[in-house]
Amino acid sequence: MTIPVIAIDGPSASGKGTVAALAARALGFHYLDSGAIYRVTAHAAGNRGVDLADEAGLAELARGLELRFDGVEVYLDGQPVGDAIRTEEAGRAASRIAALPALRAALLELQRGFRKAPGLVTDGRDMGSVVFPDATVKVFLTASAEERAQRRYKQLIEKGFDANLAALVQDLRERDARDASRASAPLHQAADAHLLDTTALTIAQAVDRVLGWYRQA
Ligand code: DC
Repeated sequence: MTIPVIAIDGPSASGKGTVAALAARALGFHYLDSGAIYRVTAHAAGNRGVDLADEAGLAELARGLELRFDGVEVYLDGQPVGDAIRTEEAGRAASRIAALPALRAALLELQRGFRKAPGLVTDGRDMGSVVFPDATVKVFLTASAEERAQRRYKQLIEKGFDANLAALVQDLRERDARDASRASAPLHQAADAHLLDTTALTIAQAVDRVLGWYRQA
C-alpha cells in the first residue's frame, strides 16, 4: 500500500498553507509546510555565517539540518524558531536560496521522509511536480496578486509586524517571477494538477474542493 499524498502547490500567500493544514486535520493526515524548510534553511545560514549565494555550503548545511515540526511551530536544533522565519525578509531569503539546484536536491530526502501513514498533505511550489510526483491528488492553488497581498497584509498585522499594501503587491509579483522563472523546479501548474483559484472562495470552500478531489481519486 502506498501512503496517500495530497500535494498543494501555488504562489506566495495564496492560502495554500491554511487549506493544506485544514485538509490534513479533516483527514487525520500529517501536514508538511515545505516553504518553512526553505525559510529555516536560510535562517540557519544566517546564524552560522553561510552566505546565501554559497550553493555547496547551503547544501551541506541542509543535509545536516535538525528539524522538527510541532503544529505550526518549527524547531531547529531543538529550539523553536517562532515568527523569525515568517517575515517578508525571511521569505525573500528563502526564495533566493530556493533557486539553487544543489540545495533543492539536498532537501529532497528530508521532505520525502514526511510521507508517513495514514497520509500526508503538503504545500509548496514543487510538491506535486518534483518531490511527490506520484501524489494521489495534485492541486495548483492560486489567487490574484491583489487578493494575496490583502491576505498577507492581514496576516502580518495580526502578528504585530509593520506592513504596506502597495509594497506587498510589488514584493509578491517579484517573488512570483523569481519562483516561476528559475531553472530548477520552477513554480508552474503540473499537467495533472487541479487548478483551484481561491480569489472568490472562502477557506472552507477551498478545503471542500480539495477533499472532494481526494474522495474521487
Ligand atoms: O511558501 P513560502 O512562501 O513559505 O515559501 C518560501 C520560499 O521558499 C518561496 O519563495 C519559494 C521557496 N519554496 C520552494 O522553492 N519550493 C517549495 N516546495 C516551497 C517553498
